[in-house]
Amino acid sequence: MITTVKNDQILHPLLEQYQIELFIKREDLLHPHISGNKFRKLKYNTAKAKQQNKQTLLTFGGAYSNHIVATACAGNLYGFKTIGIIRGEELGVDLSKTLAQNNTLAFAVKQGMQLHFISRSEYKLKEKATFITGLQKRFGDFYLVPEGGTNELAIQGCTEILTPNDHSFDVICCAVGTGGTITGLIRSAQPEQHVIGFPALKETYLHKEISKKTTQTNWELNRNYHLGGYAKTTPELISFINEFYKTQKILLDPIYTGKLLHGIFESIKQGNFRKKTRILAIHTGGLQGIAGINTKLKKKGQKLITTNYEI
Ligand SMILES: Cc1ncc(COP(=O)(O)O)c(C=O)c1O
Repeated sequence: MITTVKNDQILHPLLEQYQIELFIKREDLLHPHISGNKFRKLKYNTAKAKQQNKQTLLTFGGAYSNHIVATACAGNLYGFKTIGIIRGEELGVDLSKTLAQNNTLAFAVKQGMQLHFISRSEYKLKEKATFITGLQKRFGDFYLVPEGGTNELAIQGCTEILTPNDHSFDVICCAVGTGGTITGLIRSAQPEQHVIGFPALKETYLHKEISKKTTQTNWELNRNYHLGGYAKTTPELISFINEFYKTQKILLDPIYTGKLLHGIFESIKQGNFRKKTRILAIHTGGLQGIAGINTKLKKKGQKLITTNYEI
């Protein structure tokens, strides 16, 4: 499997107008299903699980989770059984109907993942020791990978996204969910580089959480482009993603990387970057998330993301 990827330069009239150089690190090309930050996050976690002689990986996620797909696929590839604890007990009532309507979960099952559906209130207990003991009683011994895959080993993996060739960039930008990826980037960025995270959700706790894991101060979160919250989209975002694909031939997902690139373009328009700034945006994968959003958009009769990407 490849572990270093190319940086693609984005050519666009707006970038010319503001004299900004923008590149995208194509972490999405690392693997078709364990793509982007998921590959980085699982690398040392699967190694640790092997070292501890664990046979099973157990993790948590929502019905369209990129992390569930990646863990199911990694388990299959590296010889682990996998168990996915999925938010939403209603999805387990008629499993064949759910799988017929949800490519994410259907793919996970095809990779051998055993799905277990729990209510939203139970899901909130996922970090509690008593809840985890209950899971051990039910499923036996396992290696626990947290929701979104973020823990210290995941952060260690994410420090490997940047390479010495990236030292020439002034600004590194990434999408933020749990904060693991940006923490890895902050730890590996050069002191003179500035790291900007674009949260995909309407949060207020992330800055504090990330600050606990790094003493570096050359970073910030730009909270202006989550567009109303996690998995919320606007017609403008969908048009941006479609236009970006048409002109750059790079597909973005509507939950993370679409909001990231849209946020970067809008920030440039706001004059937030000095002339000659060299920006590196990280494409963290997650393209399988498009199908779920397209299903929602279709129901609302709105414009879809144009793609022939299939999980
Ligand atoms: C495609 C994609 N990009 C970015 C992120 C954000 O990463 P993190 O949770 O480490 O902040 C996620 C979520 O995990 C993701 O699936």
